[in-house]
Amino acid sequence: MSEKVKKLKIQKQDDDILILNQVGKKLESVSHETLQVYEMAARSILKALDMKDNYTYGHSLRVAQYCLILGHHLGMSKEECYELELSALFHDIGKIGIPDRILRKPDRLDEDEFEVMKRHPELSYEILKDFKGFEQIAINTRHHHERYDGNGYPDKLKAEEIPAFSRIILIADTYDAITSSRVYRKGLGHQVAFDELHEFAGSQFDPFLVKQFTKAMDKHTEKDEDKTYITLIHDLEKLKKEAA
Ligand SMILES: [Fe+2]
Repeated sequence: MSEKVKKLKIQKQDDDILILNQVGKKLESVSHETLQVYEMAARSILKALDMKDNYTYGHSLRVAQYCLILGHHLGMSKEECYELELSALFHDIGKIGIPDRILRKPDRLDEDEFEVMKRHPELSYEILKDFKGFEQIAINTRHHHERYDGNGYPDKLKAEEIPAFSRIILIADTYDAITSSRVYRKGLGHQVAFDELHEFAGSQFDPFLVKQFTKAMDKHTEKDEDKTYITLIHDLEKLKKEAA
């Protein structure tokens, strides 16, 4: 797996133009009919997540939307956007395997509970890895809590070793965690989230992608606030910021 991961790169050209070099088993290698069956299965799995934890489901949709806003800003191809969408929709699917008392705990998790919670990216990977054609998506979900400085989990990958889409998901994930409302607290503003992303750019986050993300989100907010990019799910009510 590390062989595949290492090849995933974003090449930076003049700050703006990016070429995504995603390798691994491509989704396009799957036939149209198989893909349709997969999509039905994918929707069902997401429904299961919604039943398990309504907040995480809404969060996953919003994270996918934010990832795609960046994807479009970076000029990703349709195929790349689709792989990014699925990776983002499924990034937290492993939370299905986390006990409710931990997943829904309104207070800070203690050390032991946090260790259990930290297993969710590996569980996401386990759930997805046997779908033929979803191998790269599974890998992208596995690494969405890796940090740019190598202090993340589960595999302590560093900088460009981390799949490009995992790096993007972490940024969108953090943005949503700060701005969305929970039952026990109101979401904070857009700028608070941007400040946090900038503060930890280079340690937690890919600094180049943070810069592009904030640019893309500003542009989107000004122009296309209601535009939705997700294609797999049409239950877009959940994109709303209110606590579910
Ligand atoms: Fe996560």
